[in-house]
Amino acid sequence: MDAIRIYGGNCLDGQTTIQGSKNASLPILAATLLIDGTCEIENCPDISDVYHMQRLLESLGCKVEREGTLVRVNTQGFSECDMPSDSVCVMRSSVMLVGALLARTGKICMEYPGGCVIGARPIDLHLRSLRQMGVTITESEDGFCAETTRLRGAVLRLPFVSVGATENLILAAVLAEGETVIESAAREPEIQALCDFLRCAGAKIEGAGTERLVIHGVERLNPTGYRVPADRIVAGTYLSACMCAGGHVFLKDAPVSHMESVLDYAVRMGAAISYEADGILVAGREHESACDTVVTGCYPEFPTDMQSLFMVVMALSGQAGRIEETVFENRFRIVPELCRMGADITVQGNVAHIGRSAGFHGAIVQAKELRGGAALVIAALAADGTSIVTNRHYIDRGYEDIVLNLRALGAKAELA
Ligand code: UD1
Repeated sequence: MDAIRIYGGNCLDGQTTIQGSKNASLPILAATLLIDGTCEIENCPDISDVYHMQRLLESLGCKVEREGTLVRVNTQGFSECDMPSDSVCVMRSSVMLVGALLARTGKICMEYPGGCVIGARPIDLHLRSLRQMGVTITESEDGFCAETTRLRGAVLRLPFVSVGATENLILAAVLAEGETVIESAAREPEIQALCDFLRCAGAKIEGAGTERLVIHGVERLNPTGYRVPADRIVAGTYLSACMCAGGHVFLKDAPVSHMESVLDYAVRMGAAISYEADGILVAGREHESACDTVVTGCYPEFPTDMQSLFMVVMALSGQAGRIEETVFENRFRIVPELCRMGADITVQGNVAHIGRSAGFHGAIVQAKELRGGAALVIAALAADGTSIVTNRHYIDRGYEDIVLNLRALGAKAELA
């Protein structure tokens, strides 16, 4: 039962409500460790990555309860102990606990974190900047130990933009002694959400959403509540589904202001979008694509997390095109699977060349990572015949009930 069977060829029609953001929930849950007492995080998606983060917090003595989309974290029972290595290994966001735990206890040993296999994904930027903040770090083959008597503010110049490093350093800095400046900070909306949550708890952070963050360390943070924004990548996934399968889909709660570049590309590739107060209405395949190149980049550019989804959109557009991936070096793992469904795609370095295809046919294909897995499901919706996408667990890392949601939109899909 780790697969999805899809009977392709049905247009989508209906409404889907966009779940809370995975990439915002994870660092915010890690941030609760900085706060004595109970925080209430609303709109937390019920997905396996969030479940693993909940387990990590529990293994540190926190009491974690879920009621629908509300996750309540009480840190009063916090005690230092070993984190379950299976959770650390499957999820890269476990690295977020480093900044938070150093602030809380001054010491952490952990295995190198995992996550999707989409590139080398080292954590050198995180560790280098933490050293500048007064942390001693000893690395071994499998992991590292970090220790400090007191985190100190510092001027941290990241040599290139990293979402995870920016988040980790924010978590380390909010309770540090003095002022921390992060230059070349990531500007993703999820960073903004983390800063908003911490500010609600009493942190002093200036420049959220810009490339220069200034954080004045405070003595303590206070319990607070926060509502996680909707997931722009999940919204982009259902947008792509509609563009590939055709039809009309209303994306309720889609975070439009975080999706500018994706919506811009979508319109150039043939979608029609109507903006309403509580979401967007997408009409797929309204006109011919007038876009033959997609280049990924840091926010506000086109997100790397949408790249494989738009590869499917492009491959079905009836025109040739190219995708340049500038963030992760190994993010074309979906290509052989798509070719088995009839796509004509070749990869040269960080560029995928997409040839004209006569359409996809059903096949048994293997998800190899989260977004690529979702992209295969989308491809199968538009394919002739039946497809099976295996390794559903990758997709479950980031999507609540993708099968149920697609069925509600008229797709024929089931667990297999
Ligand atoms: C986060 C997102 C992920 C998204 C990515 C880029 C979460 C949980 N994940 O991942 O969905 O695809 O941002 O938008 O929020 N790098 C280094 N050294 C480091 C850190 C990063 O070389 O210490 C490199 C990475 O290998 C990668 C690039 O920098 O090539 C960007 O990575 P980063 O922004 O850190 O991505 P994540 O935080 O892992």
